Amino acid sequence: MTDIITEQATAAASGAAATEKFRGKQRTEGADVDTRRVDTLVSELLAAAHDIIRRHKVTYAEYDALKSWLIQVGQDGEWPLFLDVWLEHVVEEVAGEDREGSKGTIEGPYYVPDSPRLPAEATLPMRDGEEGTPLLFQGRVTGVDGTPLAGALVEMWHADNDGFYSQFAPGLPEWNLRGAVVADDQGNFKIHTIEPAPYQIPTDGSCGRLIAAAGWHAWRPAHLHLKVSAPGRQLITTQLYFKGGSHVSDDIASAVKPELILDPGPAAHGAGREVTYDFVLDKA
Ligand code: DHB
Ligand code: FE
Repeated sequence: MTDIITEQATAAASGAAATEKFRGKQRTEGADVDTRRVDTLVSELLAAAHDIIRRHKVTYAEYDALKSWLIQVGQDGEWPLFLDVWLEHVVEEVAGEDREGSKGTIEGPYYVPDSPRLPAEATLPMRDGEEGTPLLFQGRVTGVDGTPLAGALVEMWHADNDGFYSQFAPGLPEWNLRGAVVADDQGNFKIHTIEPAPYQIPTDGSCGRLIAAAGWHAWRPAHLHLKVSAPGRQLITTQLYFKGGSHVSDDIASAVKPELILDPGPAAHGAGREVTYDFVLDKA
């Protein structure tokens, strides 16, 4: 019985859940991608693969290993994990190139829209006695010119003290450590939560097999996920990390930027730590 529960908590469950959620929210559904663009992008991608095969004299044994691994990634439902760990950071870099204001970074596979709406000072939904160091995360949302953005929406989601995300690992309350905080009329917000643990991407599925085969590690540094938005402004999707934390300088998903590292101090009131971080949103 224990084995079954452990199994469900790992790759099979998180991978399949990430695939299902992605199908529900797909940004590009129905997008009519121009034929010439598909021709260019796919031709160049294939040419890069052909070049690698020639330069490294890839064997039939290696080609078959790749084929069987690709089949298995789909069966495990791990394509969202694979893409968000190894490709999304470059897509985000290009998407954010011309945007002013706060830095963004990857969304990852574990965002769920429509989390509970909370007032400007709020505690994220959590279990009684939720494990982890209490964290007060506070700040202000403004435009590039400093105008406070009244009623800005600060959506936050993050892993628990064991590195698990609600709705993707079994046994957690539906909205655990997920919420949508509405800033006050000065754009201020105060979010009480706990510090998440570093996150290990599932090691028992296809992505884990690739990591082991290549001799890499599977870790992302502890991080808070955020989407910050306001009418007439560009939404930013970002993550914040903790100075001195494990894997801040060797994130497997390459999503850390210097501007995204928090340095919390002791809480002014009560236990735990607190930190202030302001968001600046560019015009839409
Ligand atoms: C993955 C998980 C995350 O929590 C994240 O922020 C990015 C990627 C992943 O497992 O693919
Ligand atoms: Fe994450």
